[in-house]
Amino acid sequence: MKGSIFLELLEMAEANFGEETVDRILDSAELESRGAYTSVGTYSCKELVTLVTAFSDHSGIAPNELQRLFGHWMMTFFTKRYGVFFEDKHSAFDILEAIEGEIHVEVRKLYPEAELPSFSTQRIGGEQLELVYTSPRPLAPFCKGLIEGCLEIYDQKASIAASAVPDAPQSTKFLISLENQT
Ligand code: HEM
Repeated sequence: MKGSIFLELLEMAEANFGEETVDRILDSAELESRGAYTSVGTYSCKELVTLVTAFSDHSGIAPNELQRLFGHWMMTFFTKRYGVFFEDKHSAFDILEAIEGEIHVEVRKLYPEAELPSFSTQRIGGEQLELVYTSPRPLAPFCKGLIEGCLEIYDQKASIAASAVPDAPQSTKFLISLENQT
């Protein structure tokens, strides 16, 4: 997993728990990299899970909730860092439908070593999108946070129902239902 993702996780933790606390947590966590990340480096996704667990132990916030919050944080980071992807999109569904065939394709060109999930999407009427997320990594709550972040960018409200996919243990189905905006 890219170093820039780790650096953002540490930024989020510092913003919430303070730099000293984060340094202390990094010192005591068992990390192969010893917490010395660079944006161009690549690190095991297991380290991300270790960090999330350590921040959860410190804060009492459940690991899945921390992953979800980190999804929001990363979406804000993506809009600043990769604004070009958002220029021709007009809604959260536009973004979500473009991840597999456009956004992550460009990401892979920039970073051939990136470990990216795969997505399939299907519109159900005008108000619902079914998005199936598939990844060998345990990051479905992070994915949910990214989806929520997309909705926030376009000021859209929706309910998101996550469910398992029969016979596909690496997949999670998100049914996103827009709420009527009045
Ligand atoms: C401009 C928008 C986006 C950019 C630039 C982007 C870029 C990236 C990058 C660089 C990674 C890390 C790959 C690695 O560390 O090896 C990543 C991973 C990921 N992306 Fe995106 N992404 C974008 C939008 C989205 C959206 C909207 C979603 C969710 C619906 C999403 C879902 C994920 C997930 C869940 C991962 C973690 C890897 C995994 O689950 O296997 N991305 N993305």
